[in-house]
This record gives sequence, structure tokens and C-alpha cells, in this order.
Amino acid sequence: MIAMHDSGLGGLSIWRAVRAALPRWPITYLADQAYCPYGPRSRQEIIDRSLAIGHYLMSQGATILVVACNTATTAAITALRRELPIPIVGVEPAIKPAAAASRTRRIAVLATQATLASERVQTLLDTHANGVEVLRRPGHGWVEQVEAGELDSPLTRQVVAEVVSPLLAQNIDHIALGCTHYPFLAPLIRELTGDAIALYDPAEAIARRVVSQLKQHASDSQADHCYRFITTADDAGPMARMLPILIGRHDAVESHPLETP
Ligand code: DGL
Repeated sequence: MIAMHDSGLGGLSIWRAVRAALPRWPITYLADQAYCPYGPRSRQEIIDRSLAIGHYLMSQGATILVVACNTATTAAITALRRELPIPIVGVEPAIKPAAAASRTRRIAVLATQATLASERVQTLLDTHANGVEVLRRPGHGWVEQVEAGELDSPLTRQVVAEVVSPLLAQNIDHIALGCTHYPFLAPLIRELTGDAIALYDPAEAIARRVVSQLKQHASDSQADHCYRFITTADDAGPMARMLPILIGRHDAVESHPLETP
């Protein structure tokens, strides 16, 4: 079974791409909504949550783990790889391809505060920015709007414009979406940027990596393409109401409150 997790519903942008690439594989998606958002949390707290979730998903039969969250990947992927004996695929801001493709030599990376402040992003900048100027901006309020399923409300338009409009005068030609919630706001971002600025959503690249990992570690059955959706919130209702809005599905959602040891 392919297991995926995020602080909340953002990782469903990765779920869509993984499911499209591997339509016959069982996938279990866990949203840590009791602790969402991760962005303002400490690195240690994100590591503790990610390990607890990783162990739980293994107990449910995970044979590969997709950390469908940039914030959890940048904070916890090393700890996860040390503790869990299964392949782990993470997601991190696409600084390398965006910088490599930039003609104006200026790009922007949108991500949570925790991701932007992480050592991993600093390393990506040091290694791959190659003299390209990288403007780093947190999407204040964006995660909350996606969690609420408000993909096109006046408040969502306002919080998106507050971040994107000032970038329009900055001569950037690429924006890397470094938080898995943000692709759900791509239509609003595109309304502001037009075609002049390319958006990088890493979902398809992650799906390709999952496919190649499964080929290398073929140890699962493709027969049963059942999908499970789990939230750590006490009430599964809000997530169940969001699935049709975000991925067009009406599956049941299980509540599994998960204590951090
Ligand atoms: N979706 C997440 C990410 O990719 C985290 C959002 C949050 O919980 O702050 O970074």
C-alpha cells in the first residue's frame, strides 16, 4: 500500500498525481489536521508528528511512504529514513528546475515559514540557485483557506493577491509552489500572473518518483485499488466534505486521533 501524509488536505494535490500514475494501487492518505498548520510549528514538533504518523501508517500496511508535505519533508525526512525500513519519497520546493529555466534570473519560491527557514532550503539555494535571485515568500493564510475548501472566496482572493501582486513588479518568470496546499490556489495565482510567469507544481515529478521506487522495490499487490482517507481530527466530517471539492471524490473518512509520544 502507498501511504501518504500531510499536515492536512494539501497533500491531496500529490494524491491526485500519484493516483493518476498508479490507478491500480491501494493508497492510504493521512491528514494530520489535529496539528495543522505545520508552518508555524517547531522543527522538533514536526519531526515527532511525522515519526508517529510514519509508524502508524506502517502498522496499517504501508510499503512506501510519500511525505506529501514540504514542511514535513524539510524537517523530518532524515529522521523518517533513519527509523522506517521502507522507501520514503519527499517533496521539496522546485528551486533547481525553476532557477535552471529562468531567463530573467529572478524567481520566487512560495512556501510555509518553516520550509523557507529550513536548512534544506538553504542548501537548495546554495547548490542550485546558480546566481539566480530567489525571492522567498510565505503564503500567509493560504493553507487555512484550502483547509476550509475556500478555493475562490473573496478572502482567498485577498490573501493570494497580498502575496502575488507585489511579485508582479519584480521581473520574475517562475514561481515554485513549495507547499502542497498551494496548487489548489493555482487558478487564482494564474489570474494575477497571466502567462508571463510559469508555476511549478511538483506533483507529477513526485508521482514519477513513486513509480520508479515501486519498480525498484516491487513488493506490493496491485490488485486492490482501495483508497483510505484518515484524519487525526476528532471529527472526520470536515475532511469528508472537502474531498469532493478538492479531488472530486465522495469517500468515507476515518478519524484516528494520534498522540505524539
Ligand atoms: N502542505 C504543507 C507543505 O507542503 C504544510 C502546510 C502547513 O501545514 O503549514 O508545506
